[in-house]
Amino acid sequence: MPATVVVGTQWGDEGKGKLTDLMAFEMDMVVRYQGGHNAGHTLVVNDKTFALQLVPSGVLHPNVTPVIGNGTVIDPRVLVDEMDALAARGVDCGALKVSGSAHLVMPYHSELDALHEDRLGADKLGTTGRGIGPAYADRALRTGLRVQDLLDPEGFRIRLDAALGRVNPLLAAVFDRPPMDASAIAEEYLGRCAPRIAPHVADTVGLVHDALESGRRVLLEGAQATFLDLDHGTYPFVTSSNPTAGGACTGAGLGPGHIDRIVGVVKAYVTRVGSGPFVTELTDSTGDHLVAAGHEYGTNTGRRRRTGWLDLVMLRQAVRLNSITELALTKLDVLDGLPRLKVCVAYRHGGDLFSHMPHCQSVLREASPVYEELPGWQADTAAAAEAGVLPAAARGYISFIEAEAGVPVRLVGVGPGRHQFLELP
Ligand code: IMP
Repeated sequence: MPATVVVGTQWGDEGKGKLTDLMAFEMDMVVRYQGGHNAGHTLVVNDKTFALQLVPSGVLHPNVTPVIGNGTVIDPRVLVDEMDALAARGVDCGALKVSGSAHLVMPYHSELDALHEDRLGADKLGTTGRGIGPAYADRALRTGLRVQDLLDPEGFRIRLDAALGRVNPLLAAVFDRPPMDASAIAEEYLGRCAPRIAPHVADTVGLVHDALESGRRVLLEGAQATFLDLDHGTYPFVTSSNPTAGGACTGAGLGPGHIDRIVGVVKAYVTRVGSGPFVTELTDSTGDHLVAAGHEYGTNTGRRRRTGWLDLVMLRQAVRLNSITELALTKLDVLDGLPRLKVCVAYRHGGDLFSHMPHCQSVLREASPVYEELPGWQADTAAAAEAGVLPAAARGYISFIEAEAGVPVRLVGVGPGRHQFLELP
């Protein structure tokens, strides 16, 4: 049985967690394949709100094995706290499996993340400050510590000493900061976290393949999104991993032949947290309206998100980069009541018109949007119980997206609740 991928098509916060939670009803395993606790997934189930950072969104389903794959970076303190918080609300994480090959986010990673950002001043990337970039940098430098090191105290201490041998001189010489203490870190990671995480550590690659070979259904859950991808996003304003569908292969340990369904999640407008180009950004009262109506504040950092009109140049590129087979359109209800809607169909730069993403960042920074205007609708779509009762203008908006993206919209989100996803034929 081939696997399914859920991937964000914009700059994150498209509602992947909510979609994954819904799709988990028909899944046996949900695997997070990249990122760390920079992610924030908000789920609303029976009026209870769950904010997840590391644990896959499938955790709320007793039939699902939640897996944190090798492509992620894990701060074990956050993972333990998240498991405790879920347990306090009656959610059992006993079935959670964690890859021994995932890298650890260490205390010096978050410190370095913040110090690098400070140093960049006005040019800062606007990271979540969680140490994600420095943790992936250590992975690439082959100087990182991994989850399996939590099971080997002696090896952990040796690798930690080696890491601090590099980090502490950097902290002192470049940032004028005091050294970090190996024994305090070891106490917290080995003393407090390792006993809690050890029972969950597993060969997740083997588990995923066993599941697929025995006909079970596996969902690969991306965090962040296509335009935060280290290779394909708006570099350098990106995260340090590969949220695109290819990252699902390396981050979970399977090849493209194991995947046959790729669901792209597209918000009905666009948001972005942090710095970087944003061609359709709205800095006027319509932008403020989208922030208010869409509650566009980060789950994780509380930051106000930047907002803008839907960008089909981005969406076409996301379809290409991820081999998207279908779309889930989210937050359509946020557009309720707007008299006219604009959708960006191309970028203009000097005398050039781009209907596909320009590869050069300087073009993207200076490009202006070419809009098509569509009628809005004056109805409460959040109350719609099925797609057939959506206003004609809303259905027109959906059809326009399908035609321009070249893939069908299968689900439409009209509110935060599980039941507020409408199926399209
Ligand atoms: P980092 O992943 O913390 O290094 O942040 C790099 C960029 O990705 C920043 O612009 C962040 O705001 C953005 N980012 C990281 N995680 C998320 C997310 O889950 N949603 C939206 N933006 C994110």
